[in-house]
Amino acid sequence: MKTWLITGCSSGFGQRLALAAAQRGNRVVATARDVKSIEEMARPFDGRMITLPLDVTDAAAAKAAVAKAVETFGGFDVLVNNAGYGLFGAIEEATSEAYRPMFEVNVFGLIETTRAALPVLRRSGGTIVNMSSGAGIAGSGGAGYYNAAKFAVEGISEALAGELKPFGIRVLIVEPGPFRTDFLGRSITMAANEMPEYAASSRRHYRETNNGNQAGDPDKAVAVILQAVDADDAPLHLPLGPAAHAIAERKLASFRSDIDAWRHISIVTDFDHS
Ligand SMILES: NC(=O)c1ccc[n+]([C@@H]2O[C@H](COP(=O)([O-])OP(=O)(O)OC[C@H]3O[C@@H](n4cnc5c(N)ncnc54)[C@H](OP(=O)(O)O)[C@@H]3O)[C@@H](O)[C@H]2O)c1
Repeated sequence: MKTWLITGCSSGFGQRLALAAAQRGNRVVATARDVKSIEEMARPFDGRMITLPLDVTDAAAAKAAVAKAVETFGGFDVLVNNAGYGLFGAIEEATSEAYRPMFEVNVFGLIETTRAALPVLRRSGGTIVNMSSGAGIAGSGGAGYYNAAKFAVEGISEALAGELKPFGIRVLIVEPGPFRTDFLGRSITMAANEMPEYAASSRRHYRETNNGNQAGDPDKAVAVILQAVDADDAPLHLPLGPAAHAIAERKLASFRSDIDAWRHISIVTDFDHS
C-alpha cells in the first residue's frame, strides 16, 4: 500500500493524481496553499486521504506537513513535487519582482519540500516524482525564466537520483508537454514590461489560443505517472505526450550536432603532458 505526499493539489495534475491514487486504495497526503480548496476532495475516502496546508515557499510548513503525514500514516513512500507555475516573457521584459518568486516556488519550494521529506524517505525508500516540463528539456524564446527553473529541477533531480539510490529511493522526472489543466490560465504570469522588440518570441498569442485547447489529457498523464511509480523499470526522464517527445528528440539531435561540430577544436584544452 503506497502513501503519497503531493504538493499543489488544488487543480490540474496534483488534484488528479491525489484522486487517482486514493481511488485505487492508496493513502494520500494532499496539500495546497489554501487547504479549504481541497477539503471536499478528501471526504469520500474515509481518512485514507488527509488534506494539509502547504505553500511550498514555506519551509516550516513543509516540515509540519511531513510531521503530520508521519503522525497520521507512519510515513510516506511517494513524494510528488508538483506545485508550480509559469512565467512568460523575454529575459529583458521580466523583472526580478516576477522571476524571483517563480524560482521560489518552482525551484526552492521543491528543494525545501524534498529536504523536509528525505529523513522519512531514507527510512522507507520510495519514489520522488518531480514535475519538470518539456520546458525543462529545451529552452525557447519567451519562456527563458520558466526554462531556467525547470532546468534547475532537472539538475537537482538527476543529482538526487544518484545520491538517493543507496537508500532505495528512485527519482522520476516528469516532463509534460501541453496538458489541459489550469496551467495556461491562472498559472501563468506574463512579464509586465512587454516590449515590441520581442514581439517575435511573445507567448501571448500561444497562451490565448492554447489555453483550454491543449492536446494533452491530464487524466491520461496521471495514469502514466501511476504506472511509472509502480514499475521497477521506469526511466529517470519521462517526457509525457507527443509534444514533449518531439522536444526531446529535437534537443538530442541539436545537442549531438553541437558536440560534434567543434569537437576537434574544443577538445584540445588539457595541459600538455610532456
Ligand atoms: N499543464 C501543462 O501543460 C504543464 C506542462 C509542463 C509542466 N507542468 C507542470 O505541472 C505542474 C502542475 O501544473 P498544472 O498543469 O497541474 O497546473 P495547475 O492546474 O495550474 O496547478 C498548479 C498547482 O500549483 C499550485 N501552486 C502554485 N504555487 C504554489 C505554492 N507556492 N505552494 C503550493 N502550491 C502552489 C497551485 O495552487 P493554487 O491553487 O494555490 O494556486 C495549483 O494547485 C507545475 O509544476 C507545472 O509547471 C504543466
